[in-house]
Amino acid sequence: MTLPAAPARLRFGRALRAWYRGYHRDLPWRRTRDPYRVLVSELMLQQTQVSRVLLKYPEFLERFPTLESLARARPARVMEAWGGLGYYARARNLHRLARTVVQGGAPATLPDRPEALRSLPGIGAYTAGAVASFAFERRAALVDTNVARVLRRVFAPDLDPKTGPGRRRLWALATALLPRTGRATYVHNQALMELGALVCTARVRHCARCPVRGVCATYAAERP
Ligand code: ADE
Repeated sequence: MTLPAAPARLRFGRALRAWYRGYHRDLPWRRTRDPYRVLVSELMLQQTQVSRVLLKYPEFLERFPTLESLARARPARVMEAWGGLGYYARARNLHRLARTVVQGGAPATLPDRPEALRSLPGIGAYTAGAVASFAFERRAALVDTNVARVLRRVFAPDLDPKTGPGRRRLWALATALLPRTGRATYVHNQALMELGALVCTARVRHCARCPVRGVCATYAAERP
């Protein structure tokens, strides 16, 4: 896969972000830039549906409104607050993370760069990119299953996302597509997730209402 040429990248990004501005869902984690709140939402959303996270997210943050309050909590209380979300390793790692960054009584902060975020318990490449971009508006790429599906269908239908080289290419592609500023990157990354959730879904492709079908290789190949 060669990376798409600049005009295609620009067209894709502009159409994607314009669509997001008009059609995105108003979700609670899109109303905050607090790194802790962003982190909690991204960890919850990794393996749990939005509808279920919407039920548990406010409750969890009410019980543990800050990294400090989470760090002080007993493990059993954290597990209890995570109840119903499943995959409890995420909660254990989040608790460990809070205890790692809250040390010595200084106000706890999360790092703003993907590389530094990745050194924390339970933070993989996707979560690091999501926190850097959504909390700190850094120009960082992110690829999860949804984003991978969108990018593959639009730019690289032959790519196999299950292989190491395939994954590396997807990250290179996501990075090449980033807009110039951190602020636009916030919208761009949320928009990629949103397109994967609402339009370019795993089960159905709603090409008729897709903002980027004009640059989409899969759409072009399927048209008679
Ligand atoms: N899934 C993971 N991150 C998300 C986000 N920020 N908005 C909606 N769904 C998501």
